[in-house]
Amino acid sequence: MKTTEQSPVLGVDIGTSHIVAARHTEQDFQYERQLNAFVSIPYTKLAETLMAKERINHAVQGGEILVFGDEAEQFAELFHVETRRPMMNGILNPGEADGMLVIRQIITRLLGRAKKPGQHIYFSVPAPAPGMNADKFTFHESTLRQCLTDLGYEARSISEGLAVVYGELGDSNYSGIGVSCGGGMCNVCLAYLSVPVISFSVPKGGDYIDSNSAAAVHDLATRVRVEKEKGFHFNGYFENKTYHALSVYYDDVIQSLVKSMREAFGNASNLPKLKQPVPLVLSGGTAIPPGFRERFEKVLRASDFPVELSEIRAAANPLHSTAKGTLVATLCEA
Ligand SMILES: Nc1ncnc2c1ncn2[C@@H]1O[C@H](COP(=O)(O)OP(=O)(O)O)[C@@H](O)[C@H]1O
Ligand SMILES: [Mg+2]
Repeated sequence: MKTTEQSPVLGVDIGTSHIVAARHTEQDFQYERQLNAFVSIPYTKLAETLMAKERINHAVQGGEILVFGDEAEQFAELFHVETRRPMMNGILNPGEADGMLVIRQIITRLLGRAKKPGQHIYFSVPAPAPGMNADKFTFHESTLRQCLTDLGYEARSISEGLAVVYGELGDSNYSGIGVSCGGGMCNVCLAYLSVPVISFSVPKGGDYIDSNSAAAVHDLATRVRVEKEKGFHFNGYFENKTYHALSVYYDDVIQSLVKSMREAFGNASNLPKLKQPVPLVLSGGTAIPPGFRERFEKVLRASDFPVELSEIRAAANPLHSTAKGTLVATLCEA
């Protein structure tokens, strides 16, 4: 992981699974991401020296060495420990004392310090679930903003669903529904001409699918996740029992997501009278398996949906949509 000196970094998606930096170069948008995870191993001077020599991302904290980012996974396997997670269910993990230190390290490695004091940057934040107390989300947002402020940025937050609208719906005048299905949760935003009308989250995502499927087949969530990422797809019939369990919990997530959308949009008093149908775009790692879009569309079309949709499409690069949106948000203000 290298810090970039040549071009300003302008957007960052801080997700439960990954932190993704987006930067604008003369030709295009570029992305760099790291796993939002770490493992701790006992400190010895020798281990620390070797890690520095091998350029392994690490930090020394108390009597421990914290190995963070993508390399955490390798170390977890090597030492037979679980990776630790700075975030859980979309926000800072209250049970992880070293979590913020790790996020700070990953962000610093990905972004570096602001090129000039007060350089603008947008970062993504989740929205609360409908009717949920927002205090935890406020704490999450202000802690991350402080982290970016300490690096010299003037940081502003954008809700993850709105970031997907910014990233994917430019050709429909930033009108439509952005959906991000991540590790910790799913985020949704209906925007009209770039203005968010309704944003909310559903507290189920890839982690929920992994842990429940793992319990059903008596396996470890990490192993189920690896199998899922390697080749899970929706085809209706599974001989492989892990794939069968995954399909059950994938369905659970899709049903919950569509139900929440139907309720949130149906109950909204401020729903704009849209002159024409709007698109819905699906993004995030959980939306990757082949057949996800079709399954989602089938569930959504099974009964009335309060917003008329022109199409339901998958994002071209589901792992970058939110980061792209944070970058577009910053560029729109430049
Ligand atoms: N190829 C894939 N197939 C299925 N699931 C995937 C794939 N790649 C990533 N995922 C899942 O996507 C989730 C992470 O999505 P991401 O958008 O990076 O999340 P977050 O916003 O929480 O950081 C994890 O549950 C991960 O297992
Ligand atoms: Mg995300």
